[in-house]
Amino acid sequence: MVRYSMELGEVTPHNIKQLKRLNQVVFPVSYNDKFYKDVLDLGPFAKLAYFQDIVVGGVCCRIDNTDGKRCLYIMTLGVLAPYRRYGLGALMLKHVLDLCERDGNFDSVYLHVQISNEDAIKFYAKFGFDIVEKKENYYKRIEPADAYVLKKHFRKTEA
Ligand code: ACO
Repeated sequence: MVRYSMELGEVTPHNIKQLKRLNQVVFPVSYNDKFYKDVLDLGPFAKLAYFQDIVVGGVCCRIDNTDGKRCLYIMTLGVLAPYRRYGLGALMLKHVLDLCERDGNFDSVYLHVQISNEDAIKFYAKFGFDIVEKKENYYKRIEPADAYVLKKHFRKTEA
């Protein structure tokens, strides 16, 4: 069996343009300059995914404090089409889930996904995410405009 090298790396001012180019190809929505400026302050919650030293994926999350709950919101998580089903999506998702588990103070992790995105819905289901809500007309410029909210709760660690 061929073994490929797959790893995660930091997002820095030197490689942020690679993340931007990648997201332009992978996602139907575009992210503005402020998004990329803010990504540089996300620390371990933003990562690039490398396949044999080539950038082919990326994940960006932010901490969200709504209704008194501390949650992780996955803004983007994507892999270039030819590099899918090699485990890179899982590598990125496990990384952010591990960060939350180790922190111990996250209620849940959640994201929005287009209702037609069956690949992503199956991917997240594999990691224990449930569809908790449907948001009509969530997206402004793409069809279908409706989104599902996918969420995974963390077990509370007793003090
Ligand atoms: N169909 C069924 N199950 C799937 C699929 C699929 N298309 N893709 C992944 N899975 C499941 C499988 O169980 C897979 O394990 P297996 O290959 O051993 O069967 C497991 O998830 C892990 O798959 P990975 O290889 O780690 O996932 P991949 O690197 O292909 O990335 C991703 C999955 C990120 C959803 C990819 O398809 C992608 O980039 N799509 C376009 C961007 C996107 O839709 N991103 C997510 C929505 S936006 C957001 O997250 C905020």
